[in-house]
Amino acid sequence: MKQVDFARERRWWNAKAPKEEQEMFDEAVNRALRWRVIDKNLDGIKTIFDVGAGTGIFSIPLSKRGFQVTHLDFSPAMLDAARKKSAELANITFVEANAVDLSRFQDRSFDLVLNTDGAISFCGSEAEQALRESCRVTGKKLIVTVTNRICTIPS
Ligand SMILES: C[S@@+](CC[C@H](N)C(=O)[O-])C[C@H]1O[C@@H](n2cnc3c(N)ncnc32)[C@H](O)[C@@H]1O
Repeated sequence: MKQVDFARERRWWNAKAPKEEQEMFDEAVNRALRWRVIDKNLDGIKTIFDVGAGTGIFSIPLSKRGFQVTHLDFSPAMLDAARKKSAELANITFVEANAVDLSRFQDRSFDLVLNTDGAISFCGSEAEQALRESCRVTGKKLIVTVTNRICTIPS
């Protein structure tokens, strides 16, 4: 499997951040499906870790609903956009890190971990490590989705 140049990939996501919430292709349907799965898995959940959380499409509404949310992304531009949308919220924290190395978090740190549509699919030969790390920090439930759009990143 392909070795990913994470610095290059981060630049690609930084450039994409301003357009991240535009509804292109089947994105609205995909997000609705992800919400359906998330909503079914919130019983007994207090803490949520969103890995590859982008501009906060899930993390911010979940924080507004009262969950304690940790929003992780490796793109500063994605994080800036999310921070701007959530300035008034006290129960969301932002972390800039790569999903393949969550070593700053202990095992089973979070009740629910989300890793949707990005932070595994775009890790190339390190995808397994990214998945392993999300599993390791999961306390109760892990929701993962993957995408086949890695072809959209120029190699
Ligand atoms: C398509 S967006 C998905 C956002 C949201 N999770 C969703 O499901 O709509 C993918 C996000 O994953 C982030 N990402 C990609 N690879 C990552 C990595 N190795 N570590 C952390 N974040 C990563 C990108 O910066 C981007 O914000």
